[in-house]
Amino acid sequence: MEFQRLATSERAARFNVQFEALVNRAVRTYDGVLNTARLGGRKANYDDQHYEFVGGASDVLRRKHYDKSLRLLWKAEEHAPFLPFADSSKAERSLMEMALRSLTDEERAERERLSAPEFKAMLDREYTRQQKQAIVNILAAIGHGEAYAWLVSAELMGEVKSTGARAALTMQVLEEAKHFVVLRELISAFDVPIRRQSVWEYLFMERVYKARGLEKFFGMNVLVEGIALSIFGVMSHLPGLEIARLFHLDESRHTALPSNYFKEFPMTAWQKHNPRARYERLRMILPAVPLIAQMEADMAELGIDSFEFGGSVLRKISWLAERSGFALPLPRPILLESLNRLFNVYCKATRDGHRNTDFIAAESTRGEQELAVEAEVFEELAS
Ligand SMILES: [Fe+2]
Ligand SMILES: [Fe+2]
Repeated sequence: MEFQRLATSERAARFNVQFEALVNRAVRTYDGVLNTARLGGRKANYDDQHYEFVGGASDVLRRKHYDKSLRLLWKAEEHAPFLPFADSSKAERSLMEMALRSLTDEERAERERLSAPEFKAMLDREYTRQQKQAIVNILAAIGHGEAYAWLVSAELMGEVKSTGARAALTMQVLEEAKHFVVLRELISAFDVPIRRQSVWEYLFMERVYKARGLEKFFGMNVLVEGIALSIFGVMSHLPGLEIARLFHLDESRHTALPSNYFKEFPMTAWQKHNPRARYERLRMILPAVPLIAQMEADMAELGIDSFEFGGSVLRKISWLAERSGFALPLPRPILLESLNRLFNVYCKATRDGHRNTDFIAAESTRGEQELAVEAEVFEELAS
């Protein structure tokens, strides 16, 4: 490339370099001292010397969470055309049109892209008002949860080390934002009142949001995501809720994040096992127990036993906690057995002819595809 080089003062350039080096040394040393004394200093945990965030590249984390998220990134406009989103690119839109054109009339009728009124009419054909209300009540639990997942993941982004982990958390923030706004529109389309958070959900989510440092990984990616995964897994086969399959796919990736992160940046034995952390973790789980009883009526409306659902959730989240290294006050088998006993005592008192049931062994996820997704994540974590 040919440029018309402009004349500059060599002396001025030399002075600028030396002056910058001097000020740089002073500023960095001053900030370094403040940092060591924990009095402030550089705020960004960014390592400009190595052009990386503090912690290094973490390419494995980046590939598993950021690259994969982008590969699996879905658009509401394509998968739920009846919702008011315009998030597809021009190329994606023309691809969808081409795909629709290549179908026979019969195939097209089957895959018809429903408009909003058609979607609402379909819901009214498929469900009674009571069933719609039950679906909305169950989905609202996770809808409010998505708001917290969005808040917590944004805070966690500032807590993790390395470029790869930040990239992973950035995708989670984006996905939680999408989950919140898409689910909100989907729930609204049912045209029934949307309930507030129950006090159990309120206590649960606030404790997760207030959890300190990387304990947020336990509260959010293990507990909240584990419950979300199970709710999407139990609902995605229902007419009109097919999009829940895509939420389920995202949440399964999120549940694997703490374990993958700690492979690169392990917790100390103290962080894993100290009595206060164990107690705080149990305190976070506890509000989920009365929540299971509270959801019983709505789940029963859809033919789901909320205690089987609860057992399935607790088995999965306690396993995720163990894999990620978050110790609980009791060993896993004893904790699960105690909860199972508690469920049975409650059911014996409230259900006619209840027989002792192993709720913990239940599997509430329905769709084959969803079971395969969970098996893949859990298998990867087990290795
Ligand atoms: Fe989510
Ligand atoms: Fe999530």
